[in-house]
Parts: sequence; C-alpha cells; structure tokens
Amino acid sequence: MVANKPETDKPVDALTQDEAESELARLAEAIAAADIAYHQNDAPEITDAEYDALRIRNAEIEMRFPDLVRADSPTGSVGAPPAEGFAKVRHAVPMLSLAKAYTDQDVVDFIERGRRFFERDKDLDIAFTAEPKIDGLSASLRYENGVFVQGATRGNGTVGEDITANLKTIADIPHRLKGSGWPEVIEIRGEVYMTYAEFEALKARSAATGGQDYVNPRNTAAGSLRQKDPAVTASRNLKFFAYAWGYTTADPAPTQFESVRKFAEWGFEITPLMVRAKSVEELIAQYHVIEEKRSSLGYDIDGVVYKVDQLELQRRWGFVTGEPRWAIAHKFPAERATTTVRKIDIQVGRTGTLAPVARLAPVTVGGVVVENVTLHNEDYIKGLDSNGLPIREGRDIRIGDTVVIQRAGDVIPQIVDVAIDKRPADAGPYDFPHTCPVCGSPATREVNENTGKEDSRRRCTGELICPAQAVERLRHFVSRGAMDIEGLGAENIDLFFQAGLIETAADIFRLKDRRAAAQRALAERREEQARQREAASGKERKNARGADQRNFEGLEKLFAAIDARREPELDRFIFALGIRHVGDTTAALLARTFSTIEEFIRVGKETAAAEDPHTVFPSINGIGDTVIGALVDFFGNERNDKVLADLLEHVHPKPYVVTISADSAVAGKTIVFTGSLEKMTRSEAKAMAERLGAKVAGSVSAKTDLVVAGPGAGSKLKTATELGIEVVDEDAWLERVRGAV
Ligand code: IVH
Repeated sequence: MVANKPETDKPVDALTQDEAESELARLAEAIAAADIAYHQNDAPEITDAEYDALRIRNAEIEMRFPDLVRADSPTGSVGAPPAEGFAKVRHAVPMLSLAKAYTDQDVVDFIERGRRFFERDKDLDIAFTAEPKIDGLSASLRYENGVFVQGATRGNGTVGEDITANLKTIADIPHRLKGSGWPEVIEIRGEVYMTYAEFEALKARSAATGGQDYVNPRNTAAGSLRQKDPAVTASRNLKFFAYAWGYTTADPAPTQFESVRKFAEWGFEITPLMVRAKSVEELIAQYHVIEEKRSSLGYDIDGVVYKVDQLELQRRWGFVTGEPRWAIAHKFPAERATTTVRKIDIQVGRTGTLAPVARLAPVTVGGVVVENVTLHNEDYIKGLDSNGLPIREGRDIRIGDTVVIQRAGDVIPQIVDVAIDKRPADAGPYDFPHTCPVCGSPATREVNENTGKEDSRRRCTGELICPAQAVERLRHFVSRGAMDIEGLGAENIDLFFQAGLIETAADIFRLKDRRAAAQRALAERREEQARQREAASGKERKNARGADQRNFEGLEKLFAAIDARREPELDRFIFALGIRHVGDTTAALLARTFSTIEEFIRVGKETAAAEDPHTVFPSINGIGDTVIGALVDFFGNERNDKVLADLLEHVHPKPYVVTISADSAVAGKTIVFTGSLEKMTRSEAKAMAERLGAKVAGSVSAKTDLVVAGPGAGSKLKTATELGIEVVDEDAWLERVRGAV
C-alpha cells in the first residue's frame, strides 16, 4: 500500500518521475470527482481553497514533468475536446454585464449615486477609470500559479463554455504569466475581438474560395471562438484585451488602474486609452477623446466604460442583479451613414402583404454593409407612423433620394432621415402600387372593424391565385416549425412550383405520381447550374450520367421524407395551414382545445357561418378576436374548404393527446423560456412543455414558476432573479422533463 500513498505533502521539486506520474493520476481523479460533486450534483465535497490547491499542485507537476501530462489532464491542455459541443464551466465569480448611460446626464447621475452612497465618508476621494468598451466577446481565463489552465465564454454569466484550446491559439493570451507577484489563482477577464484588417482579409480569402460571407467582426470573432478545431481559430488571428478579473486569491493591486497595469506586466495586452479621473467633466472629456479615436483604432468599440478605481470602494458599493453598481458603460450614439435609394421593390408575403424594400447604394454602417432596408408600408414611405403621426419630420422617401441610415448594435438598419436639399429635381413622390405586382389582383388596405382604422399595410386580394402567396404558403407549409419535410426546402418548392408540379399543399403528396416530370425538373436545374459553372470556369463537364443517378436517388429520398410526414402532429398541421395570425403557439392552443382536425374544422365552419362567432367559438385563454376573425375568414372561404378537403385525402393529423401525468414535474406550472436553446427550437421546447401540462408564458411575472434560460438571456432572467423565481439551464430542463415524457 505504501507505494500507492498519495504524495500530497511532498514538494513538487522533490518528486521522482514515478511519484509524479501516480500523483498526477490521483489529482486527475480527485479533481474530476470534485467537479462532478460541484457541477452536476451541486454538492461540493471540498472547499474552494482545497480545490484550488489540487489544481495548483496538478499544474505545477505538469510544468515540471511535461511528458507526463495525461490525456485527461484537468488543465484541459491536451486531449480531444468533447465530441459534442463544449463542456460547461461554472464561473467561480459570475461574469457581469454593465449598466448603460446614453447621455451626459446619465453619467452625472451615476457619479451622484456614488457620492450619495459614500456620503458619510466626508474625506473620501472617489476616483474613476475611463476606457473603451470593446465590441467583442468576453472571456474568462483561469491562471493557477501563473499557468493558463482553463478559458471560458461568458455564456449566461453563470455558466459558460470551455474553449481553452481555442483561447490558447490567441497570441495576446499568455500560456504562462510573465514577471512575478501574481495571485495563486486568478481569473483574468477581457474581450476577444477581431481587427478590421483581419476581418477584411478573412472575407477576401473566403470570397476567393467561394466560401461563406461574414457579417461583421464581432460575429465573426464569436464564430471563430466556437470552432471545434483550434487550428481554425488560430487562422483567424483574434486579439484580446484584459480589463477585469473574476475569482482571485488576492487583489492584483489596490486600484482598478494599477491592477490592469499589472496585467500588462504579466504579459497581457491592455487598452492604451485608459485614464484615471476624478470628475464628471474629466470622464466625459475622455469619452470624447476615445470617440475621436474610434475610427482610427482598427477595431470596433461601442462606448466608454467608467469604473470606480479603488477596489475597496467597489466592494462597498457592490452589485445589483447581474451588474456592478460601481461601473457603467457610456454608449456611443448609433452609427449613421448616408447613401442613396436606387429603387423600391415590392415583395409579396405569405399573407399577401405588399412589403416595400429600398435598394440602396451599398454603404457600411456599424461594421456591416447595408444594401436593403425595409420601408415597412405605404404610410412609412410618406413619412407617417401607424397612427398617422409624422416620422422623419414628415419627409417622404423617393427613388433617387439621399438618405441617412442608422444601425445600432444588432438592430436592423433603418432610414432615419432624408436630405431634401439633395433630392433630384425629377424625383416624384413614390406611387405605391394598388395592384399586386405578382398576380395583378387589387391590393387593398383593410379597415379594422373594431377601431374603424385603416391598416397601414396593403394586401393582395389574390390569395390562392397569387403565385407569390402560393409559393410563400407552400414554403411555410413544409418549413421546420410546420410540417418539417426534410429535403423539400424553399429552393425545391420554387422549382416544382415553376414546373407546375406543385400548386397546393396536397400536390406535395401527389408528387410521387409525377416522378418522371419531377426528375426532369431536377435534371434541368442541374443542367442549368452546370452550364453556369462551365461558363464561369471555362472547363468542360463530364459524367452527366452520374448526375442523373444522383437526381434519381435524391428524389426517392424526398418521396420517403414526404411519406414520413403523412401523419403529422395536429398542432404542426394547423400551424402549417398558414391561417393569418395563427402562429405556432396559437396553433398549439387550438390543437389542445379541439384535439382532432375534424373537430377543429367543424367548429371553424360553424363559427364562420354564425352571426356572432362568439356564440360558437369557445373562449380560449390566449386567443382573442383577431385570431377568431382570421378563422372566420379562413373557414368562410370556399376555396380553402376545397384545398383543405383535398389535403386531408393525403394527410391524417394525429389527434392531439395531452399527457398531464400527475407526477409530471412541470404539470400545471407556468414556464418562461429565454435566451437561445441549443438542443431544440423554441417551438419544440414550448410544445414539449405544453404536452406535459405546463403553461408557457412570454414574460416573467410573480406567477412564473420556472425560467429556462439559455445563453444570451437578458432582462427576463434578471426579472426572474429579482423575483426569486427558479432558473434552470436547458440541460437541467431536459433532465427534469425526461422522466415525464
Ligand atoms: S468591465 C464587472 N470593461 O461589456 C464589469 N467590460 O456590457 C465587467 N466590455 O460583458 C465588465 N469592454 O464583454 C468591462 N473595458 C471593458 C469592456 C467591457 C467591453 C464588455 C464585456 C461585458 C460587457 C458588459
């Protein structure tokens, strides 16, 4: 037994090779067990300090005996990444976000709040730092005894993803800290970002090889960090600025300013634009200095962060949910750019809405090239909002106009102003079409019966005879949230529609009978694509027969996929019908209420025939007059009757069964989903919860029982925390419902 005795007490310097090997094995096991107890069972068996001691010892031994580093090393420096996704990392100290200031007054208020908080300390001299807010992704880097052992994304602030291998490829991130005096354990926090130069270079490389398009440096940096293969991350030449820290065994220095300076001594890049200031005036002066430099920095920043300098005061002032009280981000105003309107196109949507789109001379705003911008509707073009009140000071938009575009963060670009002085002399007011540009049917503005108000949108009255509506309806019918027919994407729908093979949803299920024609359509498309490629490359094509064979196989697969969906879930089927105002949630409510398609149709028709729909249609929580009106329109239209009857010859929706098992962990509970889900779509999650007898709500209130928060969760998560409502992540949610489904 003596040989197996842990060498815990022996100094690392004194360990023999054999002892080191067995010690590393023991540490790997002990750390893994502690991780499981902490992360999976939420029942830590050792203290944080003991845990840190294990990791530090492990890192030290690995440093002395690099050849002995195990494949399952807890430092994560070797070994394959997990097969699926990245492992989760619980941040020892949460990664916070920042309160925002948009005006100078907001900054004055922030400082005032601080002064009031420390009012009793007469002699207190509060200092602040001001530095750029880098527009990238935050990351947390754990150093144990100066060695980088684990790096994680912010995730939802509490749990992030382990991207150590990818972070290690970033040159600005030291694998070992330089100098001395670093705490035993410290989580360095900062921003991973991509320079414009690197972004442009990547776009050029991608364009040369016909690869994907990249939207902006920030999203590209995010994508680059989440690569499965660290070599890909390495090729993106990401950068990193250190500006904060999380868990640490000792303060780096007494102040924020000096702490960040220390980071530079330890080998990190830090912003050269950080200053220390005492007054609002000085802070705002630095805001303008940074704003001036913004366009020449070579990377995106979106504001200036002010932080209380003295760590002692930071601690005393403390936190509100998810944000420190002692820091604030003073945002730059949304970026604007000027360009011209080349033309206005009208798109016809699934429900016949005529949607005007301005085609612009391409212009870069906030790091993104903008070429199209929605003009919403006829009134918007005229300079009026939906209440008839002036926007853009009532200025209308005309073809040829010079316009000011604004884009803030992830917000969709919009036209905020029109330069009337630059308007060409011959630019007349835009004549919004009164007929559908696709089918020629009249396009009208409906009048809301209740309010007497005219809808701001003009709609094509062609319904099923309008090819634009028909194609959009078909695309919707087969889409993922609806019938989910694999392999029958928008492109194939277009193709079969153009070829006259699919006009209504029922035709999809008859496509098999027109095999030869379908195959011809596919072959012709392939032929056409090959011709285009040939013309582009100048090379001749070979092996056309092989292509035919592939067409044939693809088509058989498609028929199988169509057959597989002949008995869809009732809620999906109702949603797939594309009835106006019936989204997936409403479809689920209807399915749950009526249980079978026959009952839904029976009640729908009776409601449509009744003088007052409310005498027939049951009162359903969550379904109001708009939906009832849409159902009356749908079932009152004979053409829909025929289309539906035809469709039901081929498709037999399954009765909707609600399984409210008494022991279902979520039955009767009100649940809110927020943030992004990774294992299922939002509508799947919703449907699953509802099947289990839970109610899914859109916003968090005191009535909420449970919040399922994915990455990117924001205000809902905050409210939930404030109200003390239970919050779980997607995995925990699945775990909870697994037994019940
Ligand atoms: S400090 C405790 N400093 O902004 C305070 N954050 O809105 C933690 N960010 O998630 C953050 N530049 O990703 C800080 N100089 C800077 C920053 C910065 C960018 C990001 C960071 C954070 C977000 C908060």
